[in-house]
Amino acid sequence: MTRKPLIAGNWKMNLNHLEAIAHVQRLAFSLKEEDFEEVDVLVLPPFTDMRSVQTLIDADRLRIAFGAQDLSDKDNGAYTGQISGVFLSKLGCKYALTGHSERRGINAESSELVMQKTKAALRNNITPIVCVGEPSDIRKNGNHVTYTLDQLEQSLSDLTKEMIKDIAIAYEPVWAIGTGEIATPQDAEQMALEIRNWLVDRTSLTIAQGMRILYGGSVKSSTAAGIMAMPNIDGLLVGGASIDPDEFVGICRYRLAGV
Ligand code: PGA
Repeated sequence: MTRKPLIAGNWKMNLNHLEAIAHVQRLAFSLKEEDFEEVDVLVLPPFTDMRSVQTLIDADRLRIAFGAQDLSDKDNGAYTGQISGVFLSKLGCKYALTGHSERRGINAESSELVMQKTKAALRNNITPIVCVGEPSDIRKNGNHVTYTLDQLEQSLSDLTKEMIKDIAIAYEPVWAIGTGEIATPQDAEQMALEIRNWLVDRTSLTIAQGMRILYGGSVKSSTAAGIMAMPNIDGLLVGGASIDPDEFVGICRYRLAGV
């Protein structure tokens, strides 16, 4: 089964809406049709950039998708400051991160809330990219597989097989996020395989084989190819390096870099 790789740029709280337009124009100029044949390209801008990014993508019919870094678990109502999946969907937003470690950590989001947000994305036809991964102390004591699979189980506990089929999973070890310390391709593959096996048990072989598992954590254009050579890794979730358009284009073109 072939899974088309997904290369996602998580801008985090970087680039205002004017910078966002210039950035997407740079990506559109550099990325060629053959790149889009090989990979799906996704940008995850701040909410205030989204309308500008959408207008540009629609006007120029770009093959770049855009998504949200977060969304509310509710669709509408008295939830000051939250952003509804209904609005995101209306705007043409195709993906949303749920459970990014910065939200689990800084915003104290529980796996229960991550699950509710994942369901909110699904009911609004947005593909959730559910993020899981262990902190460094857990990696050091060797419990990273159990920890990450527990987090996955709790983040998807209410979801049916049919719902799980429509999500993507990002393995992002917390110790590798923004640190420059990337997981080895072997470590990333080991966890991706564990996640895939967990998905087989939870859904079916066919569903699990069709699902994308991404790696995230300090990916650069120089390291992307090694990670992407692993059989169970179907994409990259890129933070810091996605802010630099040349670097992000290099990551999207990992296939040309060689391992
Ligand atoms: P990083 O971030 O590439 O800067 O490590 C990845 C992420 O947080 O998604």
